[in-house]
This record gives sequence, C-alpha cells and structure tokens, in this order.
Amino acid sequence: MTIAWINDQWLPLSEARISPMDRGFLFGDGIYEVIPSYGGKMVGFDWHMQRLQNGLDAIAIPNPLAIQTWQQQLTRLIKDNGAGNLGVYLQVTRGVVEKRQHKFPDVVTPTIFAYTFDIPATSDGSLASAKSFNVSTAVDRRWQRCHIKSTALLGNVLHMMEGVDAGADEVLLFNDNDELTEAAACNVFIVKNGEVFTPRLDTQKLPGITRNLLLDMFKADGNWRVSEGVVSRAEVLSADEVWLTSSTKEVAPVISIDGQPIADGKPGPVWSRAQQLFNQRRFDY
Ligand code: PDD
Repeated sequence: MTIAWINDQWLPLSEARISPMDRGFLFGDGIYEVIPSYGGKMVGFDWHMQRLQNGLDAIAIPNPLAIQTWQQQLTRLIKDNGAGNLGVYLQVTRGVVEKRQHKFPDVVTPTIFAYTFDIPATSDGSLASAKSFNVSTAVDRRWQRCHIKSTALLGNVLHMMEGVDAGADEVLLFNDNDELTEAAACNVFIVKNGEVFTPRLDTQKLPGITRNLLLDMFKADGNWRVSEGVVSRAEVLSADEVWLTSSTKEVAPVISIDGQPIADGKPGPVWSRAQQLFNQRRFDY
C-alpha cells in the first residue's frame, strides 16, 4: 500500500482526495519534481529543491516549505513506503479557489501532494543487462517555456502517445530548425567518435537533474570529451550512440530511431562507462 502526503495528511494513496477547485486540476497551475531514492537515500536532493524553487518563482507560487522541512517530510514518506527503489513524486499547486478565473487569486494556500512509486534498481552499466529503448521522432509542439517543470504536461503526453502508437518507448523532439530539444520525458545525449554531445539548455528544454549531475560527474572525472550546443537531426541520426536521461531511467541507451538501428543496434561502450560513473557517483549529490 502506497502512503501519500497531502498538505498535513498522511494516508493511503487510494484514500487521498483533492478539491476539483484546485488550480492544479483546473489549469495545471503547479510545479512538480520526481526525485529518485535508493535504499532511503535521495539522489540530487538539493538540485531538485533548487529546480523546484526556480519553477515556483517562475509562476509566482510561494514555496510552502523550507528545504529542511521538505527533506524531513520526504524522508518520512520514503520510510513509510518501504525505502526501496523509489521515485518520489511531489507537486505544489497554487491551491484551491472559490471561483474559476484565469488570473491568480489574491489570497490562496498552495496545495502539496507527494507519493512514491517503484523505479528499477540502479543499472551497473553492464552491456549484458542494459535495458535499451526504441524511440520515434516528432516536431516539438509543446509550449515555449519547457524549462519550467509545470504539471501542465499535455504537450508531452500527446508526443508520448504518438510514439507509443508508433511502437516506440520514447520520442525525440526536434524544433522547427531540426535541432534536437529533448524527449517527451527525458533529456538526450549523443556520442560521436567518443565525444559526448547534448543540447545546450534554454527555454525549449527542461534542465534535467540527471543530465546536470552527469555533466558534473564528467567534469569531475576529467576523462571525457563533452560539448553542450546545437545538436542537429542529422547528427542524431548518424550518432554512434544515443542516450536518454531522467530521474527514473538514469542513463538509458537508445538502440533505434524510427525503426532504424543506431550503429550496430546495441547499447554502446561509452554508455556503459557513463552509467557506471553515474552509478558510482550518484550518492555524492
Ligand atoms: N521527467 N525532460 C522532460 C520533459 C522530463 O519530463 C524529464 C523528467 C526530464 C529529465 O529530468 P530529470 O533528470 O530531472 O528527471 C527531461 C520526469 C521523470 C517525469 O515527468 O516523470
């Protein structure tokens, strides 16, 4: 049984209730985070808290809790849910209103909701046990503020469904200039001749914590050639390796795009090294 936390209540997820007048429900007016946790230890907690703060600031919702309180409460939630391999989902919405009107209400108390769900055990990066992904491609038709981790994810959901309907696990998104932005629910890296490339952050992409942790680990390790910049569709299609990153997938190898194998159609050696590095260093953050 999953335990959920709503405002000051702790109860089974199946009993958790929210008002239909919550602006999260009416407008998708909220910010969320997904934090991975293994054996009771969260990965990148401070980084997730900083992104939460940035998102709340961007849409003018006051952060209802201090970081320390977030840490205490989420630690309790993780413990109550067995402290295994968990994704910790949390969302803060603007709150419950009396009238549905677009403009922000003058006075409102933010709603907090959090629960956990199972995620795979961390991958040791071995080529033999890699879980690989097949992806499709689409023109990115989401909104112009994809750097905000908004709960309003209909654009992402519709892209994901186009991919699922085409038999894919994820969808690589390209803007109108044929530049890679990200995937429907992941950031993307490519490898060419041993060098790692990923799109530079801007308002077209979510600043993924897994992405940012991995870049930090590459830098600290020193044995990597890495560039952030424009990554074109042609570069993606001719890459030696393509990876997805997210809090629930860590670093995940892609083996085909629109039905065409990437290189030999198997997870590559650079992915293996990157996931091993991620596995070894994740608890430093
Ligand atoms: N998705 N880009 C998008 C659009 C995402 O939704 C996500 C994460 C990422 C990767 O971010 P991070 O490394 O911080 O998880 C990139 C989460 C897991 C989700 O919506 O479930």
